[in-house]
Amino acid sequence: MISKQTIDKIFSTIRVEEIVGEYVQLKRAGSNFKGLSPFHEEKSPSFVVSPSKQIWKDFSTGKGGTAISFLMEIENFTYPEALRHAAKKYGIEIEEDQREFSEEAKIAQSERDLLYKIHEVANEFFQNILWEDGEGKAIGLSYFRERELKDDIIKKFQLGYSPEKKNAFTEFALEKGYTKEILEKSGLSIFPENSPAGLDRFRERVIFPIHSFSGRVLGFGARILRSNVKTAKYLNSPETEIYHKSNVLYGLNQSKQAISRKNVCLLVEGYMDVISLHLSGIENVVASSGTSLTTEQIKLIKRLTENVTILFDGDNAGIKASFRSIDMLLAEGVNIRVLLFPEGDDPDSFARKHPQEYVENFIENEATDFIDFKAEILLKDAGNDPIKKADAIRNIVKSVSFVQNALKKEIYLKEVSKKFQLSEQSLFNELDIQRQITDNQTQKTHQQKENTPVKMEIVPFDKEKEDPFLFDVLFMENKLIDHMLMFGDVVLKRTDGENTEYQITVIEEILHHFEEEHYGFLAKNNEIIINQIKEGIQNDELRSGSFFVTFMDEEITTKVVDALLPKDELENWASRNIYPPNYGDKVGDQVKGDILLHKYRYIDYLIKQAIAELENYRTSDESKYFELIKKITLLKQASMRLNDMIEYSPIKGIYLDKMR
Ligand code: UTP
Ligand code: MN
Repeated sequence: MISKQTIDKIFSTIRVEEIVGEYVQLKRAGSNFKGLSPFHEEKSPSFVVSPSKQIWKDFSTGKGGTAISFLMEIENFTYPEALRHAAKKYGIEIEEDQREFSEEAKIAQSERDLLYKIHEVANEFFQNILWEDGEGKAIGLSYFRERELKDDIIKKFQLGYSPEKKNAFTEFALEKGYTKEILEKSGLSIFPENSPAGLDRFRERVIFPIHSFSGRVLGFGARILRSNVKTAKYLNSPETEIYHKSNVLYGLNQSKQAISRKNVCLLVEGYMDVISLHLSGIENVVASSGTSLTTEQIKLIKRLTENVTILFDGDNAGIKASFRSIDMLLAEGVNIRVLLFPEGDDPDSFARKHPQEYVENFIENEATDFIDFKAEILLKDAGNDPIKKADAIRNIVKSVSFVQNALKKEIYLKEVSKKFQLSEQSLFNELDIQRQITDNQTQKTHQQKENTPVKMEIVPFDKEKEDPFLFDVLFMENKLIDHMLMFGDVVLKRTDGENTEYQITVIEEILHHFEEEHYGFLAKNNEIIINQIKEGIQNDELRSGSFFVTFMDEEITTKVVDALLPKDELENWASRNIYPPNYGDKVGDQVKGDILLHKYRYIDYLIKQAIAELENYRTSDESKYFELIKKITLLKQASMRLNDMIEYSPIKGIYLDKMR
């Protein structure tokens, strides 16, 4: 866990305009920056960054928040991933909060850290050799150039080279102070009895680092260059504490933005397929690296898109083995298309042969749905054998039975029926049988479904509309909360009944009002904010807007950003020499007026409630009835007094007209 101090340090160091600026072209607009939304195709900019408030707001999608939440949005990072990423960019050292960990967990954590570190060191080492070392340049770099890779692509994928010398890396790492133990655990070195100086796992190979979703190096794939050697073409890192090959997709880190922007993920087999497609400008691609797809890998893709196109080599022997991947993707609710490259081609060779547009069109036009794909392959095998043909159809229906969405399932089944000229009824019967089989298989995955956090409850908008009194109260409640968020720490000068001057912050004054009225909040979000503010006061801390933008609740952050960056900030008034009056100039009057209005409307609402209640007691409970009458009278008196105050106060001119 990242310590609280480190989090504070990160938030106080990073600049939202710098972090956002890496993804969005920002132009100055008055005191803000503007740009095109990275989350939405648009022609005129609706994305605003405020350097003074250190927040951003995307008016096209309604999203907004801090630099950290921007990273979470755009990179699909978790909160700690985003913090770590930002810390790295600004050279902030992360202090781990160890208090909650047991001794054992602490050791494990530091071991994991060491494993990450040693992979970083190795990654640097292999790249250095490739670019700087004689052997690296002559063998490794020229190999990549022979395969037509450009320098920027080699750097983007951090490709490297491991030299011939038996312990080049091991020696380098030992000298840097890494222990034999950690080197062995990382799988990068072995220490057999007859060579105490150690041996490198990867020798005389070009290196493909394998990254996590967020860009940490977890392991390596290494390709042999000599073809006469009888050893596996690719040697990969073994399973370690940080590398589990079933949880990783090659290229995901480099491709995730394109996948989410294009809303489709291309799935290929090999390292080189991913890299070649990037080279030709197709960047939404990942590789399963020779293994069959796992549920964990599908979940990684589903963080970005629900559409997958599988690309197969023309002469792929493993196509039938891929049927399992298709069923798994279907079971996870993924929409699949499949593309078979012409014989003799794989995505790598095809992408190098043809220009980007051609490849893109080819993928778009030639990819078929899984039914056509399976039919083509299975029917080719079946020939004229009716039994084999029936098996083939059953096999396809089995895939359909994995589809969870009922409507989709029916559409697919209709397609099968049309394709094979079979009655839908007989197919539905077959589906029923298959369903019983697959239900057993998928039950497990469904039980594992994580508990998604319960969304916060908000008063539904229609309900407020039905009750105009309630709507009015809620309107003012929101307004007061906005004041607290925007100007919470502004100090107001007030005079009390004896004409003595005193000072009070906006937060305290509004809080005092809510407490005096024993006010029950209508919106859950407002209540959460108030409770946080109260907790802050107990700790001598004024929790205002800047506190809540870093409060890790999406709805609250959005609400706060809305208050802090109102829509008219989109307009560049200053460029047109228009200077609207600063809302903050009259905070004191506004807070005072809005408190009165809130009170007034709240009392009206209470009166209405009491009158409704009255009917219940008119005949049944006389003393209760008169008690209510008394309450209503008192409330009405208070309401009239307030009405007078608002009526004859200059405040009314400013606020009441603006109300609705
Ligand atoms: P390929 O043999 O298709 O490799 O294996 P490739 O990516 O096209 O590489 P080039 O074009 O020959 O250089 C596909 C993937 O299967 C895994 C690797 O992830 C490879 O990218 N593989 C293959 C291994 O892990 N070990 C092997 O021995 C072979
Ligand atoms: Mn290949």
